[in-house]
Amino acid sequence: MTNTDVGPGAVVSLREVTAETVGVVCELSDTLVEHQKRMVAPNAVSIAQAHFEPKAWFRAIYADDTPVGFVMLYDDPEKPHCYLWRFMIGGPYQKKGLGRQAMNLVLDQARSRPNATEMTLSYVPIEGNPEPFYRRMGFEPTGDVEGGEVVMRRSL
Ligand SMILES: CC(C)(COP(=O)(O)OP(=O)(O)OC[C@H]1O[C@@H](n2cnc3c(N)ncnc32)[C@H](O)[C@@H]1OP(=O)(O)O)[C@@H](O)C(=O)NCCC(=O)NCCS
Repeated sequence: MTNTDVGPGAVVSLREVTAETVGVVCELSDTLVEHQKRMVAPNAVSIAQAHFEPKAWFRAIYADDTPVGFVMLYDDPEKPHCYLWRFMIGGPYQKKGLGRQAMNLVLDQARSRPNATEMTLSYVPIEGNPEPFYRRMGFEPTGDVEGGEVVMRRSL
């Protein structure tokens, strides 16, 4: 259910997904508009994949005490880059500055890794893609395209 009280002043945090919250975190994927659903796997799929990938790190994104999004990293502690595997803010919570706050926390998480010096990501280059958001967050295209997705990076 949408919490209409969530606004730009909310405090954003990254919290572990629990037995109590996994349902609502998965339902956030249903709140994306159709073209956005083509840009990020459903959270249920991400959480399932994470259970078979020891290098996956995932959290629910909260605004105050409301789950509003999901993030997953592919985090190899021996590698210099941390890969932003999945990132989404539910439709009713977008364009309130929550994605920016959450991304800053994700960057802090990556900086806490001993060998990480950069974050990489890739996006599906269709209409309405999140490149402008990522550019605002300091990412730049590397010039690489992998599996049809445009690769971006930024230093940590
Ligand atoms: C991309 C996404 C995470 C942005 O989250 P958000 O909470 O709406 O972003 P914010 O409100 O924090 O926006 C920060 C800035 O980026 C801009 N921005 C955000 N999404 C944008 C978009 N799709 N196109 C252009 N600008 C965008 C905002 O206007 C804002 O600009 P400002 O600095 O001028 O104020 C969200 O739209 C989303 O989850 N999209 C669907 C899933 C997706 O594409 N995930 C990425 C897969 S690679």
